[in-house]
Amino acid sequence: MDNRPIGVFDSGLGGLTCVREIMKTMPGEDVIYFGDTGRVPYGTRSRETLLKYVRQDIRFLETFDIKMIIIACGTASSAALPQINGEFGSEIIGVVEPAAKAAVKATKNKRIGVLGTNGTVKSGKYPEYIKSLCPDAEVFQCACPMFVPLVENGYAQNPVTRIFAQEYLEEIKKQKVDTLILGCTHYPLLKKTIGEIMGDEVTLIDSGAAAADYAFELLKENNRLSEKKNGDYSYFVSDSAEVFAELGGMFLSRPIDGRVAKTDIEKY
Ligand code: DGL
Repeated sequence: MDNRPIGVFDSGLGGLTCVREIMKTMPGEDVIYFGDTGRVPYGTRSRETLLKYVRQDIRFLETFDIKMIIIACGTASSAALPQINGEFGSEIIGVVEPAAKAAVKATKNKRIGVLGTNGTVKSGKYPEYIKSLCPDAEVFQCACPMFVPLVENGYAQNPVTRIFAQEYLEEIKKQKVDTLILGCTHYPLLKKTIGEIMGDEVTLIDSGAAAADYAFELLKENNRLSEKKNGDYSYFVSDSAEVFAELGGMFLSRPIDGRVAKTDIEKY
């Protein structure tokens, strides 16, 4: 048993889709969440800037006595984690490995699509990892840079978002993928729209949820799950705590209850 909290971070609100899954599969776990809302988006940052941000985010979470860190951000997991893993004392997992594994398990025709930010797609980590698990898989990626601002501004259900989705998904649809990874933790909010465009026969993989499920397996395997019945949640952000508390519920599918505080991430 290990009752210490799990640290989770993202560039902003998207990582809450991972926390939502933690709440479902591991309701006894305490979570300390950091959303870098003052520096979102990460998807368009240079590699150097992204590495700096990710190191600061980890150093901040390490000020708490945590048992594991989940990088609930597709961009940071694909473009920074391979380089920084090993620099820190904490056990750190990202979303790429769990989502790629789930996709390989789900696909029948071995044609897998990946949607992500520019940074995630450019890193090439999804195709690399999928092919290491299933060498004859074909992987089709698409960067969807408008999705994050649309979701963060509350346009998830707006017809404007459907127009962007149709444009982004056109090519991937032509490739007849049977499995599509939502490689950015903001995209589960667009699941309905993406699912309607792709059709029922395409399995959508939620990368944040896949990471939470993977964390559950790791903790269970080593007998490190919390023995608490109900977890406590603390949220930290680098911009307005009020805005986070207001919008966060949309990502969590329930109101944010727990402490929300602003922190000066540049200090870490
Ligand atoms: N949630 C982050 C991800 O999964 C993306 C948002 C961003 O560009 O910061 O990639």
